[in-house]
Amino acid sequence: MGLISDIKTIKRKDPAARHWLEIVLTYNGMHAIWIYRLTRILWILRLKLIARILSSIARLLTGVEIHPGAKIGKNVVIDHGTGVVIGESTIIADDVLIYHGVTLGGTGNDRGIKRHPTVCTGAMIASGAKILGNIKVGAYSKIGANAVVLRDVPDYSTAVGVPARIIPNEYSSDKVCSLSDKDRFIKESKKYGKKRHRV
Ligand SMILES: CC(C)(COP(=O)(O)OP(=O)(O)OC[C@H]1O[C@@H](n2cnc3c(N)ncnc32)[C@H](O)[C@@H]1OP(=O)(O)O)[C@@H](O)C(=O)NCCC(=O)NCCS
Repeated sequence: MGLISDIKTIKRKDPAARHWLEIVLTYNGMHAIWIYRLTRILWILRLKLIARILSSIARLLTGVEIHPGAKIGKNVVIDHGTGVVIGESTIIADDVLIYHGVTLGGTGNDRGIKRHPTVCTGAMIASGAKILGNIKVGAYSKIGANAVVLRDVPDYSTAVGVPARIIPNEYSSDKVCSLSDKDRFIKESKKYGKKRHRV
C-alpha cells in the first residue's frame, strides 16, 4: 500500500524529518493516510458505517478527518496534520502536500455527487487554507496560508488571500489540471516542482 513510498516522500519534502523510525512513530498526517486507505477499502466494499466509525476514531487519534469517500493518490503528505478536513467527494492526485488546518470542503450551496475540490498533481496547500466547492487546484500550484479559494487555480499558479487572488508566474497558463502525461510531470517537476515545496 505504498508505506515505504510514504515514508520516503516525507523524508524528501520535510526538512525536519530525520529518520524513518521517527517518521513512522510521529507523523500523525501519515497515520491518518494509512487509516484512510483501510477505510477506503471498507467504503468500496459497501461497509460504509464501519468505514465512518473507523475514520472518526482516526480523527480522534490524529486530528485529521478524511472521509472514506474521498479519493487520494500516491505520495500525498499531510504535514503536522491537526485540523485537516477532507470531504467526501474530494479528489487528491499524486504528490500533493497539505499543511495543518486545511479544509477541502463544500460551500454548503452545492448539491449532487461532486461538491468538494479536486487537487491536481504536485500542488501545495499551505496551513489554514480553505478550498471550497467543486473547483480545481491546478498542477504544481501553491495555495497560500489562510487563503479562501472559491474558484479554479490554473496550473503552476499561486493563490493567496480572502477570497483568493491568482498570482501567475512564468510557468503559468490558463489551463487547470492540464498535465496528464507522466513524462511531462517528471520533466516539469525537475525544473520547477521539487524544492519549491520546501517551506
Ligand atoms: C503562498 C506561499 C507559498 C508563497 O508563494 P509564492 O508563489 O512564492 O509567492 P510570493 O512569496 O512571491 O508572494 C506573492 C504575493 O503574495 C503575497 N502573499 C504570499 N503569501 C501570502 C499569504 N499567505 N496571504 C496573503 N498574501 C500572501 C505576497 O505578499 C506577494 O504579494 P505582492 O505580489 O503584492 O508583493 C507562501 O507565502 C505561504 O503562504 N507559505 C505558507 C507555507 C506554510 O503553510 N507553512 C507552514 C509550515 S509549518
